[in-house]
Parts: sequence; structure tokens; C-alpha cells
Amino acid sequence: MARLLLLNGPNLNLLGQREPETYGAATLEALVARARATATAAGHELADFQSNAEHELVERVHAARKDGTAFLIVNPGAFTHTSIALRDALLAVALPFIEVHLSNVFARETFRHHSYFTDIAVGAIFGLGGAGYELAVRAAAERLAVRAGR
Ligand code: DQA
Repeated sequence: MARLLLLNGPNLNLLGQREPETYGAATLEALVARARATATAAGHELADFQSNAEHELVERVHAARKDGTAFLIVNPGAFTHTSIALRDALLAVALPFIEVHLSNVFARETFRHHSYFTDIAVGAIFGLGGAGYELAVRAAAERLAVRAGR
């Protein structure tokens, strides 16, 4: 059993109410529950953390280094396009992660086309809505199984 951490950045606490035509009708709680069920079925544990504050996300990543987290799934929200600090935190802890976006950022404004995370991520999922979190959990579980030689 491994510990996964699902990290969500600013404004994702408003999922369900926030621009549903772009982000869907499901709440963050519902998406986390779905991702957690997938993790549990794969024999893993999923912790989650959402914050609107950059420093809190950075500190949660630092804590992941010490709390036994093996793999992260990260939707940095708008920090995707701005946060060198969060990028550096992920590099500092050297934990593998998958970047997830609910919307297809490449079909949107050009300022959303650049990510500070994609080049250092194991992989990225965008445009698949809440299913993206679930798919990321499955991909993480496969990676962890390969690493464990299973
Ligand atoms: C997002 C895309 C970002 O551009 C945006 O700022 C978000 C959500 C997504 O999940 O599609 O807050 O990360």
C-alpha cells in the first residue's frame, strides 16, 4: 500500500458552482471521493489538500517528503501558469507527480498554454473533467506497481 496525495490549487474549492460549462457540475468533494475510491480499490491510500494560498501548497508539498507520500496528483489551478515557487517545491521533494487539469487548457486563452509543471511531471491529463483525477490515480498505481517490481 502506498500513500498518494491529491493537491488542488486556488478556486478549485468552488467546483460545482464555478463556471460549470468549463469545469463541470461536480464538487471537489465528489471528485476527491471518486479518486479516493479508485485509490482504495487499487490498494492505496489517498490524502487530499486544497488551498487558495501558494505558501500553503508549498508547505504541503514539503510535508509530503516526510509523511510517506509516494506519488502526487496535482491540479495547480491558476498557479499552473505562474508559480515557480510550487514548481521548485516539487523539484525539492523529488516526488513523482501527474499534472491534471479539468479543462482543455490548450483550447482556452493563450496564457493558459504555458505550465510551470508539465516538463517536470511524469505525465499530464487535461480536458477530461473529473475523470482526469481518477485516471491519474490509476496511472500512479501502475507506476508504483512497476517500481515495486509487481
Ligand atoms: C485548471 C486550468 C487553469 O488554467 C485554471 O486557472 C484553473 C483550473 C483546470 O483544472 O482546468 O483554475 O487548472
